[in-house]
Amino acid sequence: MAEHSIVEASELADGDHLVVELEGREIGVFNIDGDYYAHTNWCAHQSGPVCEGQTAGFLDAEFNRESLETDIEWTREDEIIACPWHGWEFDLVTGECHSKPGVQLISHDVFVEDGEIVVSV
Ligand code: FES
Repeated sequence: MAEHSIVEASELADGDHLVVELEGREIGVFNIDGDYYAHTNWCAHQSGPVCEGQTAGFLDAEFNRESLETDIEWTREDEIIACPWHGWEFDLVTGECHSKPGVQLISHDVFVEDGEIVVSV
């Protein structure tokens, strides 16, 4: 496993992401509130470019059976990505697929060193 400097951390703003090529693989690198995540740009469904999808949040709903009221809250902005080919959604923090339990993104270690984002591949 090798470590690669990608870009200065200041160049990838909160909520932004980019796709880079490392060792013949495309890797998506994401800044979510100052925390960085990296995943191979490959979707487990039909090999689509998942890291080129749109990021969004999560609609969290809780239903109260006694009052028959539903409490809805938009949470986790930019932590969810939808594959641009068929819309499978993945959690960028854990790598888990929302609709297919047990299906994961291929994740990589990522950290900031001397102001540079570094990804291990
Ligand atoms: S290839 Fe990603 S959802 Fe189909």
